[in-house]
Amino acid sequence: MQLDDLYRRVIMDHYKNPRNRGQFGEGESVAIDLNNPTCGDRITLQMKVKDGKVEAAKFVGEGCSISMSSASMMTDAVKGKTLDEALQMAENFSGLMKGEHPEFEYEDIEALSGVSKFPARIKCATLAWNALRKGIDQAKGQGEA
Ligand code: FES
Ligand code: FES
Repeated sequence: MQLDDLYRRVIMDHYKNPRNRGQFGEGESVAIDLNNPTCGDRITLQMKVKDGKVEAAKFVGEGCSISMSSASMMTDAVKGKTLDEALQMAENFSGLMKGEHPEFEYEDIEALSGVSKFPARIKCATLAWNALRKGIDQAKGQGEA
C-alpha cells in the first residue's frame, strides 16, 4: 500500500467517524466559532480547561473532509495536554503545513502532511488549529496558566 493511500484512509476515517464531535451541555471553559473565509465552512470548538490542562475538547461544524478530519484529530490530540503543550502542537502543525516534518505523538495528524502541497487546502486543514489557538488564548485570559 502506498503511503498516500494510507494517509487518505486515515483522513477519511476521521471524516466519517469524527472523534469528539458534539457540544458539552455545560462546564466548557471556552467556546470558539471560526469560519474559513474562502468557502464559508465553519467550526465551533469547545474545551474544558482545568489547572492549565485541556481536559477535553469537542467540535461541531460543517466543512470538507480535510477540515473536519483535522478537527477530529486535533480534539483528540490535545486531550490531557497543558495549554503550552497544545500551543506547541499548533506550532508543529503550522510547520507540517509548510512542508516540514515535525513528529506528533498523535500520529494520525501526519496523514495531513500531503495538504502542504495544495495551498488552497491549507486553510481547510488549519481551521481547527486556529480555533485551538484562540481557545488557548481565551483560557489563558481567564487565568489558566
Ligand atoms: Fe472544501 Fe472541497 S469541500 S475544498
Ligand atoms: Fe471549506 Fe475546506 S473547503 S474548509
